[in-house]
Amino acid sequence: DMVQVRIPASSANLGPGFDCIGVALNLYTEVSMGFIEKGLIIEVSGEDYKEIETTENNLVYKAAKIIFEKTETQYKGLKIEIKNGIPIGSGLGSSAAAIIGGMLAANELAGGILTHKEILNLAASMEGHADNVGPALNGGLNVTVFDGVNTYYVKKELENDLTFIAFTPKKVLKTEIARNILPPKIDFKDAVFNTGRSSLLTAALFSGRYDLLKIASQDMLHQKYRSKLIPEMYACFEKSLEAGAYSAFLSGAGPTIMAICPEDKADKVVESVGSVYTYMGIDYRVYKLHCE
Ligand code: HSE
Repeated sequence: DMVQVRIPASSANLGPGFDCIGVALNLYTEVSMGFIEKGLIIEVSGEDYKEIETTENNLVYKAAKIIFEKTETQYKGLKIEIKNGIPIGSGLGSSAAAIIGGMLAANELAGGILTHKEILNLAASMEGHADNVGPALNGGLNVTVFDGVNTYYVKKELENDLTFIAFTPKKVLKTEIARNILPPKIDFKDAVFNTGRSSLLTAALFSGRYDLLKIASQDMLHQKYRSKLIPEMYACFEKSLEAGAYSAFLSGAGPTIMAICPEDKADKVVESVGSVYTYMGIDYRVYKLHCE
């Protein structure tokens, strides 16, 4: 028998909260998994399915394998079906969804031995941080710290009064490349800048002070470096704010640009930011999302 799980997309960083703040969004990857007589069968469909490995390098499979090893689960063969709804390599947490999907499905097949907390820690170890795997597993807004062993987090459900608009160029940007472009050292004043913004961002989102999001989403740690890989970034930020968004930032490692806005500004933001991509001749997709 196949077990089935559905995992949401997620947007990490939200500007200054590098590797620690993330939010689950209502785009999903569905994973079905079951034991078979022999071999490994991986079937993929949906968004960007051609980008998804169907070998032992498949991320859902790799994550499942960790669970089967941990729980000492014996099996002869494995079948995995992935119905993907999250663009790949775009900064919307497709890897985190694959990891959590693989781990949850495998744990269910193993008899539910591992706890929620153990799964979160194993997933965070795979990614190196918990800002996508946290929301992918828990839903909602998550403020997370992964110390290399344990994950500490607070979850907050966001009201549906925030619309998250994702602008996703039709190109894959490997997280590895977007992390390697970051400098090994930063200025003390940039660190101070981000500590303040990141703290204010958390406080603003937890208390509904959306008027503060514009300042609270500013960042000096990663976005300016990544803009070299995403030349449309600053123009998109500007157009978002001009059209009435509360804030705009790079979603995860990019290249997706995320704008947070009140529902009644959404159409204007879509049009205004869209003009940047059109002007620059970049193919893109738009997703109008809410916190999951
Ligand atoms: N916080 C991570 C980053 C998210 O910005 O690189 C992508 O894994």
